[in-house]
Amino acid sequence: MANAHILVVDDEVPILTALQKTLTLEGYSVDVAGGVKVAGERLARRSYDVALFDVALPDGDGVSLLKSLRDSGNEMPVIMMSGHATVDAAVRATRLGALDFLEKPISTDRLLLVLANTLRMVQAEAETRELRKATGRFGDLVGSSKAMQMLREQIARAARATASVLLLGERGTGKELVARAIHDASPRAKGPLEKLNCAAVPPELIESELFGHEAGAFTGATKQRRGKFERATGGTLFLDEVGDMPLAMQAKLLRVLQEHEFERVGGNELIKIDVRVVAATNRDLVEACKTGAFRPDLYDRLNVVPLVIPPLRSRRDDIPELAAHFLQLAARTNDRPNARITEAAIGALGAHSWPGNVRELRNIIERLVILSPDDTIDAVDVSACLGGGTAASACGLFRPGVPFRLLSEEAERTILQEALAHYGGQMAATARALDLERSHFYKKCKALGLRGADKGDEPAD
Ligand SMILES: Nc1ncnc2c1ncn2[C@@H]1O[C@H](COP(=O)(O)OP(=O)(O)OP(=O)(O)O)[C@@H](O)[C@H]1O
Ligand SMILES: [Mg+2]
Repeated sequence: MANAHILVVDDEVPILTALQKTLTLEGYSVDVAGGVKVAGERLARRSYDVALFDVALPDGDGVSLLKSLRDSGNEMPVIMMSGHATVDAAVRATRLGALDFLEKPISTDRLLLVLANTLRMVQAEAETRELRKATGRFGDLVGSSKAMQMLREQIARAARATASVLLLGERGTGKELVARAIHDASPRAKGPLEKLNCAAVPPELIESELFGHEAGAFTGATKQRRGKFERATGGTLFLDEVGDMPLAMQAKLLRVLQEHEFERVGGNELIKIDVRVVAATNRDLVEACKTGAFRPDLYDRLNVVPLVIPPLRSRRDDIPELAAHFLQLAARTNDRPNARITEAAIGALGAHSWPGNVRELRNIIERLVILSPDDTIDAVDVSACLGGGTAASACGLFRPGVPFRLLSEEAERTILQEALAHYGGQMAATARALDLERSHFYKKCKALGLRGADKGDEPAD
C-alpha cells in the first residue's frame, strides 16, 4: 500500500525528522505532530492509514491519546513507540488495540516491516468489507455451498474490474443471474444492463441488434435505431450464448472490442463505446476454437476474467436451500401457500444428477407444487416426477429460439456424459450398455467433445 498516509507523534524533533525522511523515502505520505494537541488537530483534519505514537509527550501521553481516539470511535491502526517502554504502558496500549510496540532507538528495518504488515492487514480488511458489502447484494443468488461462496467472491471481484467477463457453465447453472449480479455490484449498476441472446437472434439481424442501423440501411429499416452497444452506454452488455455467434459476426464484434468504437449499420458516424461486456456460453469455447467454430482472438478478448459456474451435481449442498427457495416461489405463484416438502423428498432431490441444473430443479419443484394432490410433497412424488419421464421431458430442454440442432446436441451430450460417468468413463462398456455401434459411439463422443477415461480405447481413424 504505497502512498499510505502516516501520522507520527513524537516530541523529539530529531526523531520526527529522521522518521519523516525514512518514511517519505519509502513512498509514504507523512505528517508529524510534536504533542497531543497538534496530533488532535491533524486527526481532526484528515484520516490516516496508520499512526505512530510516542508514549511520553509534553502535553499528555500516547496511551491516553490512543484511548481518546478509541473512545471517539476512531479505529485507526496505531503503533506505539517508547524509549523506556514500561510493561504497564505496553499492556494498556495493547488493550486499547495498539498493534505493536516499537522500542527506541527505532530500528528502521523493524519499523518498515511492522508498517508494511499493518498496512497489508488494513488493506485486506478493507477488501473484505467491500466484498461483504457487494456480496450482500446478490440477493437472488441462492446457495451457500463452498462453490457458491467462492462464486460470490469472484463476482464481487469481477464487478470491480472493467475487463470483459466470460461466464462458463452448463445450461441452467445461473449464468444470466450471475451476469446480473456482476452488473448490480459494479460501479455501472446505475447504468443499463442490456442483453443479447446470440443464439436467439437470426444471424442476419445480429449486427443491427448490436450496433443499430440508420434509416434505409436495409429493407425494412425505416427509422434509425440504436443498437445494444449504444443502449448499454454507461452500463453492461450481456452477450448470452456467445458461442453461437456466427463467425462473420464474431469478426465484427472483435473489431469493436479492439477499437472501442463502431458505426451503425449503413452509417458512417463513429460511436465510442462505454460498455462493460459480460459474455456467457455453455459451449466448450476452447474446443470450438480448435474446430474453427469460434475465433481464438475473440475468445482471448472475452476471456479476460473467466468465471466458471459449477453444475448443480457438483454442489449438492445447495439443493435443500434452492428447493426451499423455489418452493416458496412456486407456492406463491400457484396459490398453494401451505405447500411444503418433506426431508425425504429433499433427499430424493439430492440424489438426482440434474443435467438441466438449477433451472431443472426450479421446474421440477414448480411441477411438484402444481401436481401434488395435497400440500405435502413427499419422496414418492419426487421419484414419480424425476423417474417417470426421460431427462429430456423432465428438465425443460426446450428453449425458445434455440435451433433444434443445438437442443438435440445438448440432449445427446447430456445422455452420453451421464452414461460415461455411470460406467466410470469406460468407452467400450458405455457403448455396449447403450446398444450403440462402437465406432458410431466414438464418433458421437468426439463430435460432442466427450472423452472416456480410457483414451487408448479410441479407434484409430
Ligand atoms: N444460485 C441460484 N439461486 C437462485 N436461482 C437460480 C440460481 N441459479 C440459477 N437460478 C435460476 O435457475 C434458472 C436458470 O438460470 P439462468 O437462466 O441464469 O441459467 P443459464 O446458465 O443462463 O442457463 P442457459 O445456459 O440455459 O441459458 C433461472 O430461473 C434462475 O433464476
Ligand atoms: Mg442463459
